[in-house]
Amino acid sequence: MRTPLIAGNWKLNKTISEANKLATQLVTGLTGVSDREVVIAPIFTALSSVADIVKNSPIQLAGQNCYPEESGAFTGEISPLFLRDAGCQYVIIGHSERRQLLAETDAFIQQKIVKSLAGGLKPILCIGETLEQRENNQMFDVLTQQIKGALKNLTAERIATLVVAYEPVWAIGTGKTASNEQAQEAHAFIRKLLAELFTPDIAETTRILYGGSVKPGNVDELMAEKDIDGALVGGASLNAEDFIRIVRFN
Ligand code: 13P
Repeated sequence: MRTPLIAGNWKLNKTISEANKLATQLVTGLTGVSDREVVIAPIFTALSSVADIVKNSPIQLAGQNCYPEESGAFTGEISPLFLRDAGCQYVIIGHSERRQLLAETDAFIQQKIVKSLAGGLKPILCIGETLEQRENNQMFDVLTQQIKGALKNLTAERIATLVVAYEPVWAIGTGKTASNEQAQEAHAFIRKLLAELFTPDIAETTRILYGGSVKPGNVDELMAEKDIDGALVGGASLNAEDFIRIVRFN
């Protein structure tokens, strides 16, 4: 019922020529993939050349962030309008690196979600607890607050295209993946929360991705969990062979 989605977040990596090369390898390696969605999120400066390369392939594009205004005097920002113009269908919003390094709040993230949806982009909303929060038994409270904050004043109809990515901060870039049980527990909780806050239908159709040290060696078991609908991959998405294997999970 939920089409699996594997997304590669390239973060601040790959020059334009390196991005083009990786995209070309992915197009070749992913021909024929049709029962799952594939998304990559290169740096902004590489979006338009990568868009040309992935045209007519199963690969779709995401921006790594956006500003909640369409255009105007917002030096250094990028908006849903221009991400669409560059060829994006998706946008990653509220990544923990931005929450931590750039002090993004749930309220600001909510504005980005609203504008992305209005601008025709599908948001990939990132949420997740820190190690300290997990150890203090605050995980469920943190996830609840992040979901409620980011989706405040939105209706079930509005969030029909939303994707949620559960990315426990302690598992990002650390090589320490959440166990299948830990990930499944968080995903089931998020789904239940969506049912309570919106409708059972939205909970049933919204894809919830797992992110945090996803690799070729652990993707199959993660994807076997009932509430894990895909992956948001960082480090391993920078290597064509690894990312292709992850997309081709069993
Ligand atoms: P890693 O896969 O490198 O742990 O990164 C996960 C992530 O932050 C994806 O957004």
